[in-house]
Amino acid sequence: MFFYLYFIGNYIIKIIFINKPLLLADMHRTHTCGELRGNHEGIKVVLSGWVHSNRNHGGIIFIDLRDRYGITQLIVDSKHNKEIYFVAEKLRQESVIKIEGTVRSRGQLINKKIPTGEIEILVDKLTVITESEPIPLNIEEEVKATEDFRLKYRYVDLRRPPMQRNIMMRHKITKIVRDFFDKHGFLEIETPMLARSTPEGARDYLVPSRVNPGKFFALPQSPQLFKQLLMVSGFDRYMQIVKCFRDEDLRADRQPEFTQIDIEMSFVEEDDIYSIMEEMIKEIWKKVLDVELKTPFPRMSHEEAMSKYGSDKPDIRFGMELADVTDELKGSGFKVFADVIGSHGKIKCINAKGCAGFSRKETDELEDVVKIHGAKGLVALKVQDGLEGSVTKFLDERIQKALIEKAGAKKGDLLLIVADVKKKTVEESLGNLRVHLAKKLNLIDKSKWSFLWVNKFPLLEYSEEDKRYVAVHHPFTSPRDEDLKLLESEPEKARAKAYDITLNGVEVGGGSIRINDKELQSRMFKTLGIDDREAKLKFGFLLEAFKYGVPPHGGIAFGLDRMVALITGNESIREVIAFPKNKACVSLMDEAPNVVDEKQLRDLHIKSTGGEQK
Ligand code: AMO
Ligand code: AMP
Repeated sequence: MFFYLYFIGNYIIKIIFINKPLLLADMHRTHTCGELRGNHEGIKVVLSGWVHSNRNHGGIIFIDLRDRYGITQLIVDSKHNKEIYFVAEKLRQESVIKIEGTVRSRGQLINKKIPTGEIEILVDKLTVITESEPIPLNIEEEVKATEDFRLKYRYVDLRRPPMQRNIMMRHKITKIVRDFFDKHGFLEIETPMLARSTPEGARDYLVPSRVNPGKFFALPQSPQLFKQLLMVSGFDRYMQIVKCFRDEDLRADRQPEFTQIDIEMSFVEEDDIYSIMEEMIKEIWKKVLDVELKTPFPRMSHEEAMSKYGSDKPDIRFGMELADVTDELKGSGFKVFADVIGSHGKIKCINAKGCAGFSRKETDELEDVVKIHGAKGLVALKVQDGLEGSVTKFLDERIQKALIEKAGAKKGDLLLIVADVKKKTVEESLGNLRVHLAKKLNLIDKSKWSFLWVNKFPLLEYSEEDKRYVAVHHPFTSPRDEDLKLLESEPEKARAKAYDITLNGVEVGGGSIRINDKELQSRMFKTLGIDDREAKLKFGFLLEAFKYGVPPHGGIAFGLDRMVALITGNESIREVIAFPKNKACVSLMDEAPNVVDEKQLRDLHIKSTGGEQK
């Protein structure tokens, strides 16, 4: 009885309040600034928004009112209402106003540039909600201010149409991703932001614990271990759109905090991960760009990528592959080549087609590019009837012929050669030169979406700095079955069940099949120079969990920021992050990071030796 009365009472209250007709004057808006069309002609509306522009044509003022949905033209006519006219005259750009008025057709004078261009609003009432001071940045497509200035006034910069589009696109993509994984039975599970610092990978951001003096949390570089533990717990399909934190040197495609689409699955092999990811990407491209991508995406081993393209994220929208000319150059009198061959090094070449006409200045510039990437120099040979260039005197006819043939060169081409004891230096420097040249020569078809899986990565690489092997991906990545035997004898030759996905030469995601066997995980730690005691100390919880039944599992993480930047055609991920840090890792708007009170530090049992404290 009581519940019955309660429900009836609630119902009556709802009828009284919800059905009470709202007066137009009470409302902030009846429509958005992007909503009204010709068929709304004659209706009374209330609109609120920012004064985008304000043009006085003597007796008539045209105001463009803007919100995130669009722009609507308002007409303030002195003949219609003198009082409003005087207010409108003094309106400052970017003030927030509310108007009441009538929709009228623009007849023949349709503004085709905006979706609301068929109509305008004859204003009956105008209220200035908040006035704006002169704005630091113009709200326009093309920005003239520097990036740092934009970041200082980010909230204004975000009003610019391209920024609004980027942020809305980011939302749209995120929503598609969540819906996609939900549809496929994945659970979104949050993992801790305050975790423990684990070695390997980039530098951690540390957070001191006040209640545990001298102890620190670390912000996660990725939820790697937690998602693996969730597999141990039986949540066989996990996903999370998650912030990750890495204290690295920043670049256009790197932020200290960035977002991953993080995935982990149980009872899967590499192919299962590839196909679910391809489905996700296909769905995004279809829904966002109306582009049908062809799957499966091509695959390439890491070895092939490095050898042909000099990169583990090759842009395969153009050719210009690297040719190995070590054998062809055997027996040349050029000391650089002879020394490199004598030391079992590598000599590779790219053929810049049709570039024999490059000036000295231009080839010097190319040499600078390879030098930035570690090469000691660059030999440039012009293909004419024979080869031309300062080094040709050391190359007899037989060598010249062999070189031209191996490089697939024709008259008018330019051969660019790097020699080094280290194969990696040769490949990386020429790989970067290849991309540089493709941009310079306009060889890249910008309309292409060229996805590529790069797999069979090396498991380990030797770190000169640490004087030991380190994991190329991370220490939980499984070696390939056929390479298990190499783990102790020739660790550098062992390959991993690891894969990256690249788009137009950008690494957009990476993952692996994990080790799910305690013994193998211990062997891996040993190879990495982490002894039992250290492994227990640092990864004890994982090894402990691995005692209790671990399914085979694997996963991947996508860089959401990079994907959104590529889809929106932006070079920098800062364009698709609402509040990014600048290149110096500073947020210029709120001036973070910053000094803190002495008391805060005392509470945290911390003494600062750098910077000033308040
Ligand atoms: P990884 O370290 O390869 O893998 O990261 C996955 C993807 O995240 C993006 N990314 C970044 N984006 C912006 N700023 C950064 N500083 C940054 N660092 C990485 C890249 C990259 O491909 N836990 C593993 C994944 C796994 O094994 O499942 C991981 O984090 O697009
Ligand atoms: P040098 O004899 O050092 O003046 O070099 C003659 C030419 O060889 C210059 O064009 C150098 O850039 C080039 N060169 C020097 N070292 C290398 C190298 N390791 N690989 C390719 N070219 C080189």
